Amino acid sequence: MRSKVTVVGAGNVGATLGQRVAERDYADVVLVDVIPDMPQGKALDILEAAPVLGYDSLVTGANDYEPTADSDIVVITSGIARKPGMSRDDLVRTNQGIVTSVTEQVVKYSPNAVIICVTNPLDAMAQLAYKVSGFPKQRVLGMAGVLDTARFRTFIAQELGVSVRDVQAFVLGGHGDTMVPLARLSSVAGTPLPQLIPAERLEQIVQRTRDGGAEIVNLLKQGSAYYAPSASVLQMIDSILLDKKMIMPCATYLEGEYGINGLFVGVPVKLGAGGVEQVIQFELTPEEQAALQKSADSVRELIGVMGI
Ligand code: NAI
Ligand code: 2OP
Repeated sequence: MRSKVTVVGAGNVGATLGQRVAERDYADVVLVDVIPDMPQGKALDILEAAPVLGYDSLVTGANDYEPTADSDIVVITSGIARKPGMSRDDLVRTNQGIVTSVTEQVVKYSPNAVIICVTNPLDAMAQLAYKVSGFPKQRVLGMAGVLDTARFRTFIAQELGVSVRDVQAFVLGGHGDTMVPLARLSSVAGTPLPQLIPAERLEQIVQRTRDGGAEIVNLLKQGSAYYAPSASVLQMIDSILLDKKMIMPCATYLEGEYGINGLFVGVPVKLGAGGVEQVIQFELTPEEQAALQKSADSVRELIGVMGI
């Protein structure tokens, strides 16, 4: 039987993700949105591309959750996006209400699904989905680190004039201004990054990575990034549905790992059929550990704002 992926929120990230998943040809896709007819229209449009591109994925759109029943993965992208000058954290209260009601429906119709949260502020919303769902921690995670790492890798590849495929990197921490790009543990074809790029220039690239979301928001003028975000979620779905056991940074519920307890923060995890199958622990320097702790503190602050 084909797998089933539901994407809640058929806006920029959600619809682009629906298209990407359909083109993989290993799962049927359901797009859900509150706007009448819109998810149905986008789903039909993606479906009508199938004969041209040669996939057999069934793509449907809905304004309710019945068609989503028994999904293997549910991706939550519903919510409002950042506008110029707006921080991710400004989104918290509006998106708290949206993610709560969506998660309740997901639990009702797909009690065995893996939930991947995308809505911002990411780490806090993933924690909210975890709390509301009551799912085991392995089956609720957030997408941010893959995107932040992709941005870091893009800038490194551009700087050195090499293929992005040769650039290995990790960005840890919350998805915000305090994220922690780990230059020390990043490399190009096995050579550590600090040996290839002078410290001052590397710091500029790290800062551009931290500002990566805002850079796109400022260029687009309305809405935020969605091509790289949807590609990042797709990589997580690949690893789960195909049980690839890839290691990538995701927001996951930590219970003592990296000295952080009871909080969703981005760290490297192994993703397989069971969702988060292992938290991978790197040895961090005291400076890196302090930066990760600072990032975790800003996530905890938002959890406090939400009162969960
Ligand atoms: P968008 O505005 O294009 O799409 C959001 C969609 O959610 C809209 O179509 C809206 O009608 C729908 N929606 C609102 N309430 C809903 C509900 N209760 N049920 C179902 N659908 C509902 O926004 P976009 O660009 O797709 O971004 C979505 C979210 O993802 C935002 O919060 C954004 O900040 C976040 N984001 C997070 C990233 C990350 O790295 N974690 C990367 C990119 C975006
Ligand atoms: C991004 O980093 C908006 O969080 C989103 O592009």
